[in-house]
Amino acid sequence: MPLVTTKEMFKKAYTGGYAVGAFNVNDMEILQGIVEAAKEEKAPLILQVSAGARKYARHEYLIHLVKAALETADLPIALHLDHGEDFEVCKACIDGGFSSVMIDGSKYPLEENIKLTKKVVDYAHPKGVTVEAELGKLAGIEDAVKVAAKDATYTDPDEAEKFVKETGCDSLAIAIGTSHGAYKFKGDANLDIARLNEIARRLPNFPLVLHGASSVPQYLVDECNKYGGKLPGAKGVPEEMLREAAKGAICKINIDTDLRLAMTATIRRIFVESPAEFDPRKYLGPARDEIKKVVKHKIADVLGCSGKA
Ligand code: G3H
Ligand code: 13P
Ligand code: ZN
Repeated sequence: MPLVTTKEMFKKAYTGGYAVGAFNVNDMEILQGIVEAAKEEKAPLILQVSAGARKYARHEYLIHLVKAALETADLPIALHLDHGEDFEVCKACIDGGFSSVMIDGSKYPLEENIKLTKKVVDYAHPKGVTVEAELGKLAGIEDAVKVAAKDATYTDPDEAEKFVKETGCDSLAIAIGTSHGAYKFKGDANLDIARLNEIARRLPNFPLVLHGASSVPQYLVDECNKYGGKLPGAKGVPEEMLREAAKGAICKINIDTDLRLAMTATIRRIFVESPAEFDPRKYLGPARDEIKKVVKHKIADVLGCSGKA
């Protein structure tokens, strides 16, 4: 099946009361773990690539890896640019075979974000590519950008309404208390569900996106720490909250940190248990299996998109 955009996926997710998982891809093992899980669960899938991933693995390699995935999986798969920071990177991905891009103008004032997003939409739509935008600012670390919790700002429902109307974007990432990385909450997890509901009410039938949605499972943190890691106090979004969000207007849930934890915990364990090991297949293979396990769990038990391909 060729790549699809997020348009049809989100329409079905919205009416079906589930969310599609958007998993970050950085190399072949991560991609294979994700795709194998989606295949077994017969789930639609968004493979997303950040600027950092493009720099690490290179655009051409990622495109060809995803092409290989498409040849071996009969699933609706979108290839999406995660956190595109300017028009140029979005254009490069649109011209270079992606079916969806995110323009992240969240660091700009509203009017500037609107102008930039509209420029990307005007370029993407005639080429059949969907555009995700972001309004409000998440805390946490993404690539080289670190936003302190005090600088995070939640999405304003009035602004969201105006933003979607004026930009024509296809989906909107909102800030309601999640953040990027493994340290999301100091105390109890707290998401502004009232704000989410209000934004959803203002934007009927419009797909919303939740970034920073890793749940940082304790067993993975423990596994990392057992084998020499130092992740005290790592804390993510409780799965119950994600399940609820997925039933409503949230149609795309972004997960990267949990895959990083799964991979790192596995490799740490193997190096401690078998210090003489030096065949990369002996640790990358099990890491791929662990990623597959995590993605299967997300799809089947959290996002509700099993069997929706
Ligand atoms: O939102 C950020 C994603 O986790 C990607 O992270 O920019 O380090 O690849 P990255
Ligand atoms: P996590 O860091 O919670 O996995 O979020 C990933 C993300 O939002 C990618 O855009
Ligand atoms: Zn993100």
